[in-house]
Amino acid sequence: MSGVSLAKGFRMKRIDQRRRSLLGGIGGVAGVAALSPSLLLSACGNDLSADSSTGVVSASEADKDEVDVDFRLRARRDTVPILPGAPSEVWRYEAAMFHGPANTLTPVSESYPGPLIRLRRGQRVRARLENRLPEDTTIHWHGLHVPPDVDGQPRLPIKPGDDMTVTFDVRDRAGLYWYHPHPHGADGGRVGFQSYAGLAGPLVIEDDIESALGLPDGEQELILILQDRSFAGDNELTYLGGMGSMMTRMQGFLGDRVLVNGRPPETRDVGTRAYRLRILNGSNARIYKLAWSDGQPVTVIGTDGGLLAKPRQLPYVTLAPAQRVDVWIDLSQADVGQQLSLVSEQYRGGMMGGMMGRSALPAGARFDLLGLRVTDRARDGRSLPQSLDPELATPPVTAATPIRRFELGMRMMRGFSINGRQFEGAKVADDEIVALGDTEIWEFANDTRMPHPMHVHGLQFAVIGRQTFSGRRGWSGLDAGLVDAGLHDTVLVLPGERVRVALTFNDFKGLYIYHCHNMEHEDNGMMRYYRVRA
Ligand code: C2O
Ligand code: CU
Ligand code: CU
Repeated sequence: MSGVSLAKGFRMKRIDQRRRSLLGGIGGVAGVAALSPSLLLSACGNDLSADSSTGVVSASEADKDEVDVDFRLRARRDTVPILPGAPSEVWRYEAAMFHGPANTLTPVSESYPGPLIRLRRGQRVRARLENRLPEDTTIHWHGLHVPPDVDGQPRLPIKPGDDMTVTFDVRDRAGLYWYHPHPHGADGGRVGFQSYAGLAGPLVIEDDIESALGLPDGEQELILILQDRSFAGDNELTYLGGMGSMMTRMQGFLGDRVLVNGRPPETRDVGTRAYRLRILNGSNARIYKLAWSDGQPVTVIGTDGGLLAKPRQLPYVTLAPAQRVDVWIDLSQADVGQQLSLVSEQYRGGMMGGMMGRSALPAGARFDLLGLRVTDRARDGRSLPQSLDPELATPPVTAATPIRRFELGMRMMRGFSINGRQFEGAKVADDEIVALGDTEIWEFANDTRMPHPMHVHGLQFAVIGRQTFSGRRGWSGLDAGLVDAGLHDTVLVLPGERVRVALTFNDFKGLYIYHCHNMEHEDNGMMRYYRVRA
């Protein structure tokens, strides 16, 4: 073992330039030099263990009856195939089951994404989180209603070499959630870097209401994680770097190409049946405009927080970072040989990724995400249920519900702010304290030139209003795809927009965070704690 295992950006010059596998590295490619606090991945390839991605390890008998599901997630360096040719060095989650249903963990692909974790509402879950990275990390269960101390917040980092065990009850509705790191130290956030390096995975919750609908499953349920990445040299991932770095931090990172489940977009063979596409935008900053290549409307059956009350048809779906959408596509009338693609359509994306942002795939560029090729005449009795969850409950809002306002602003050269403030660790201001059990309206007003996908930890909210109060600053072509129905944990606030959400702070008191989920914005301070007091 000869490698420098990992180096902070400021130590990077000491690293042999011939070394393979830099992330944000210096590897001789013009304009890809990294700036602090970028890190690079080492060339040290021999920490590849014999672990398969979902191996089974033994647990002591005593552990078995306390919880319904028991597994571990290990964050580690690895080398995986992404593009054709040389494999790429990544950071990723490797998982193993101790106890629980056999379908709890399934690999997403042979690339970097963490395994699909499938849970059921009502289960008690224990997860051992192992940090085998050279820096602090956490694991956040994005979208889940869990107590503050198991929420993977920056104030509870797992040190390199350490483990942390968390236990929680699955209380959320059936839906697609996800997990990713959430570290933020004295030098700023590392969410963007660690997620980009490969640390993210999907988490599905099932429940009886959803099961009764008989939605497409097995081969007819496709989980799609959308991310964009840039590569240099020998398929090395590159992150922030070079002259564009300051701009990238202001705008968010846009990769030169899009990956689906950690691989280049592909075409799948399908039958004349119904399919359920469960799509996660796991990108650092890119907004997708999801549409069908033949122009047919997109049928949406669910959002971040699970199924809608009833299906909705939209010309396209706007999916901001961290958001999920559940899409129904019926191919029963298709002919064998027919082909259809899920694409990201063109829109106007301000200056982002254009002249100043240096991405080969600027915001609003059109590209393919998934091809569906009908190869098989198959019978499928399924039809789209006209009612999905008639009992879907949203926070109870009245004329007396208090409104809390958040101004999304900019700090010259220092990133974005919320009510003029940036992240200050677990410090909570007087106007960031809410009462347990209360329902409030939070209003996010965006007077900047960038869209901000605002995310609140610990709950799902309803989007109850959206208003344009000033110009869109070059952002257009996304409005008709905003899915405001249903429940959400992340809402896109476009430039010049004021968006209201209704939230209830149930069950858990203590500290949570709220932030922009453009990961570069979040890492550069567009994040705050709030406190739920008893
Ligand atoms: Cu996806 Cu603070 O989280
Ligand atoms: Cu979250
Ligand atoms: Cu933002």
